[in-house]
Amino acid sequence: MIPQTTIASIMEAARIEEVVGDFVTLKKRGVNFIACCPFHNEKTPSFTVSPTKNIYKCFGCGEAGSPTNFVMEHENMTYPDALRYLAQKYNIEIAEVDNEKGREERQARDSLFIINNFAQEHFQNNLQHTDEGISVALSYFRSRGFSDTTIQKFQLGYSIEDWDTFIKAAQEKGYRLELLKKLGLAGEKNGRFYPFFRGRVMFPIHGLSGKVVAFAGRTLKKEKKSPKYVNSPETEIYNKSKVLYGMFLARQEVRKQDDCILVEGYTDVISLHQAGIENVVASSGTSLTPDQVRLIKRYTPNITILYDGDAAGIKAALRGVDIILSEGMNVKVVILPEGEDPDSFVQAKGRTDFLAYVKETQKDFIFFKADLLLKDAGDDPVKKSAVIQDIIKTLAKIPDPIKRALYVRECANLLDISERLIITQTNKIKYNQIQKNKERKELQAAQEAHLPASLQELEEIQKAAPKEIKKQITGLDVCERDLVRLLLEFGEEFYDIDYYVAVYIIQQTLDLPPTNPIYQKMVNLYRQHLEEGKTLSKDFFLEYQDPQINKATIDLLSSPYELSENWKIKHEIFVTQIVTNFKPEVENLVDRYKLRWVLKMKDENQEKIKLAQKSNDLDIIELLKNQLQYEEWIKQLTSKLKGVIIR
Ligand code: UTP
Ligand code: MN
Repeated sequence: MIPQTTIASIMEAARIEEVVGDFVTLKKRGVNFIACCPFHNEKTPSFTVSPTKNIYKCFGCGEAGSPTNFVMEHENMTYPDALRYLAQKYNIEIAEVDNEKGREERQARDSLFIINNFAQEHFQNNLQHTDEGISVALSYFRSRGFSDTTIQKFQLGYSIEDWDTFIKAAQEKGYRLELLKKLGLAGEKNGRFYPFFRGRVMFPIHGLSGKVVAFAGRTLKKEKKSPKYVNSPETEIYNKSKVLYGMFLARQEVRKQDDCILVEGYTDVISLHQAGIENVVASSGTSLTPDQVRLIKRYTPNITILYDGDAAGIKAALRGVDIILSEGMNVKVVILPEGEDPDSFVQAKGRTDFLAYVKETQKDFIFFKADLLLKDAGDDPVKKSAVIQDIIKTLAKIPDPIKRALYVRECANLLDISERLIITQTNKIKYNQIQKNKERKELQAAQEAHLPASLQELEEIQKAAPKEIKKQITGLDVCERDLVRLLLEFGEEFYDIDYYVAVYIIQQTLDLPPTNPIYQKMVNLYRQHLEEGKTLSKDFFLEYQDPQINKATIDLLSSPYELSENWKIKHEIFVTQIVTNFKPEVENLVDRYKLRWVLKMKDENQEKIKLAQKSNDLDIIELLKNQLQYEEWIKQLTSKLKGVIIR
């Protein structure tokens, strides 16, 4: 157990901006710092770090807390581990009071690291100082062009090809053979332990702290009786899907170059390092996992995938990339000449030519994919339409609308179809995704990301704003009338580059239907059509087989929604260009509508509270909680509305 006094000094020492800054790139904004939230996917920064309060808060997903909380959340650590991490960072010594369970767990992990460390040194010693190691393995590495410095840097080693050397050495050190077995270093048969790696060159795999978490062993034999590489199993200290080979050595350079080169093999990483290209990691033959992508994302949003020029390499490049895109990363692909892998290619070319080749041939992943699939499809119309669907799915994964719009334009050219068609399709996909609850939450979080970025600001608004804003907003009936009118008149316009106004309105008000039953019907109709990817024109409602809807439509259209001057001008000039400016106006109206709604719910809830108080109803706790929630929403909405001119 960590004594209270130590905890106090850790809390005192830990600066939130320094702790967060180790994982997230912070930008100064006023007295605070902002960044894109590391806990949820977003495109506009709503993650705020307040040095004065020594806390962080995300206005998008609600994550908030102290430096310790941040380390716990971000690094998935327990409270004591987070404290230990901070203690180490700030050079605070912990005189731990004993706690049985925690100590045992830590000791168990520690002993795994100790044994791996022993094994690594043992293999390294074999390579450098035994006859077999020198003649078989060291000569092999040299023949592959690895320098002594490189061999040292990657702590390469060799496992002797016999059944007892390694086991004996471990026994002499007093290590429990059961633990060796657990780590995959030893096997057991009839109660006898034997070394798992025999006659293989050894590549230690390091965690981010530089400790050895696992090994890969490569055979030196030509015949294909056993697999080329064998790896350690997963253990408490090795989670395959979270580790990237080389990240420990690469991360600083990745941050510096603002790009992470991704290769397939251990030897590729090593050769590139030797050539002075150090921002490189390997996915170790498997396709990339979301956790690995997030690991890279801590350091850069850019990935350059380098793949062998064979068919398998290219297929591998296509796999897994959609997940990179949905994380909002920029992906480039480089295909090496037939028969080369990054290792052979960099050794043949040297650093300068290698980098020049990468620069010249790197292709944006989406165009790469479109090109490749189109070539495959040839003139076959059925195949071609499948390709188009495939590309559209990929496009829909890009979270940033500006980026997406640029790609849509390029792909429309490439596929020889209209931009509008692609947009309609991506809207459909996105819309249906959003229907799924999880996605919907993300969207809301993304929308809420527009909230004020500083804590101070929020407090100010809290104090000053509500009354002033309340005065200016009209009643719910007027608001919803405006909203439906906007939907009718401008639903088919772009809210954002490739996002229809209608999609935005409907998504944002899913849980807040208009109170007027006719309007409600109209919104529902619209929603059903959006699910099919269709927008609706005024004519649709004018001709709909329900006279009440026809009449409501005529009423709405005879008093057109008055655009602000601003909007009109921008509408005429920009609507066909990449950036449209409907956004603020649409958002403003939707927010006013929401605010009206929440105010109404709050008033209703207030009545319920009064009643509950009279009758001593136990539900009052729930009601009070709701009230707080409503107040929070009102606070958020009013602060969002504050900066905008209100009609
Ligand atoms: P490669 O076959 O391309 O090997 O597999 P390599 O890294 O280029 O090795 P050399 O140059 O032949 O020595 C690429 C990666 O796939 C994984 C390894 O991570 C390897 O580095 N792999 C490959 C395995 O895990 N097991 C295998 O049997 C083969
Ligand atoms: Mn290779």
